[in-house]
Amino acid sequence: MCSCGSKQADDARDFDPPIMGWSSWNYFHTEISEEVICGQADALISTGLADAGYKYVNIDDGFTDGRGEDGRIRIDTTKFPNGMKAVADYVHSLGLKAGMYSDAGDNTCASRDVNPYGLNVGLYGHEVEDCKMMFDEWGYDFFKVDNCGGRHLDLDEKTQFTKIAEALAQCDNKNINFNVCRWVFPGTWVREIADSWRTTHDIWVDWGSVKTIIKENMYLVAYCGEGHYNDLDMLEIGMGFPPEVERTHMACWCIQSSPLVVGCDLYKMPDYSIEFLKNADLIAMDQDRLGIAAPVVQKEGEVYVFAKDMEQFYGPKRAVVVSNLSDEPATINVSLAAIGFQGTVQVYDCFQHLDRHDLSRSEYFTVKLDPHDSGAFFVTGERIEKSVYQGEEAFLNAYTEINDQDYEVYRRPYEIPSPRYWESPSADLGLYATKLGGWEENWLEWQHVYSMEGGDYVMSIRYACADKRNMSLSVNGKDVHEFVGLDSRGELDWSEIDVKISLKKGWNKIRLSNPEAPMPSIDRMSLKKFE
Ligand code: GLA
Repeated sequence: MCSCGSKQADDARDFDPPIMGWSSWNYFHTEISEEVICGQADALISTGLADAGYKYVNIDDGFTDGRGEDGRIRIDTTKFPNGMKAVADYVHSLGLKAGMYSDAGDNTCASRDVNPYGLNVGLYGHEVEDCKMMFDEWGYDFFKVDNCGGRHLDLDEKTQFTKIAEALAQCDNKNINFNVCRWVFPGTWVREIADSWRTTHDIWVDWGSVKTIIKENMYLVAYCGEGHYNDLDMLEIGMGFPPEVERTHMACWCIQSSPLVVGCDLYKMPDYSIEFLKNADLIAMDQDRLGIAAPVVQKEGEVYVFAKDMEQFYGPKRAVVVSNLSDEPATINVSLAAIGFQGTVQVYDCFQHLDRHDLSRSEYFTVKLDPHDSGAFFVTGERIEKSVYQGEEAFLNAYTEINDQDYEVYRRPYEIPSPRYWESPSADLGLYATKLGGWEENWLEWQHVYSMEGGDYVMSIRYACADKRNMSLSVNGKDVHEFVGLDSRGELDWSEIDVKISLKKGWNKIRLSNPEAPMPSIDRMSLKKFE
């Protein structure tokens, strides 16, 4: 399961990369069988996808047939005549890994649709026995746990998913990769128990679905790291999208270090889809040893530039994806300062697999994109210190989407208001953090602020509030300033306030908090070396 490493460690990686593989759900839904699963496992080998890194063969919903009086899950033997162990054994015989599926509550999502709440195949009340059966007896390696039954029973997600993680920890099999499928960002607790977690609705073959998932994950970068990943959902590549959408789909999943789980029928993929899936440069971006996600660093209209370090923190190489999420062709001058460089850079094109001498220049390089298309690059050159940290890339300690965004779905009382990331054209890069403060746990922290030399800085905080508000600033756990009676020009009428702080050489944590009363909304903070 989860193994935590140090973000600052630049030696060998001590955590697993996001998983890569195939899953039965997107194409086959519940129409699965031993023949389908083993056939797709064969295809992972014959297409060369396994050699490219796609090793997991994940069985999703649809293999059960209720629960017997002995308490054990019954397998649908018309679909799986030899049982589930035989399938895992076959997958393992090919040198691949096998994935299982269940639900936190009483029913899986499809069993609910087939026979409303009648099948009782979920984990609730059977956590330890089911886990031992799936992972010790049958020998599976991956576990996706859904929440339709959890919702039906109105279970507290944190409590129930933690119980499932504890059941997994009781298995003799110690290499189970655990995925929480809860359709919104569940809460910061999920990092403690899972290797990855879904962040949105189910993906489908529709540009709007892909775009929504990309946009949602723009403000979840702080929660990815040290072997724990936002799961942008299975890949719809090979399911009928045109090449430009598949380029965006693959590039955005990879720069965010999402699990890469192919969802199509592997026997029916267009050639260009196989090529995108096997793109070794993008796979390297996804599986990079730093295991981090990329914030937006530049935005013009609906063209977004994402950038993250690769191979080494503050090393010479960065991954950069430029995505045109609009419905019009677009041209953007990618600012070298925004992506973290100065001087002249070398630009390598991950789709064309060549050095782009035409883009290798100083100040900016120009990218032209068709609607819904993306460029993906490795940029190498002289690094500059990151000086702007957005509110939307900050870690919000109390962040969860369960009580807020999901309120409509749950129709249950709104409990404690949780902090949010919010969109506004008035905010730098279009997003800001809000509903902060008011209780002990509700703080904001930039957890990876890097200073090349250490020393004194002027920190400017861009904030807004409609009434007078206070907040405390701490650097590396030490209180350094109290802001009292901050300007109150209006919810989205941003002000900037400066404070002098000292940073140590290397990584620093900068926190804004107010346990007693609401804080202002935070758009961003910027740092300038104090001369
Ligand atoms: C939910 C999940 C999907 C899939 C189905 C199976 O909708 O989000 O990924 O597992 O259940 O029923």
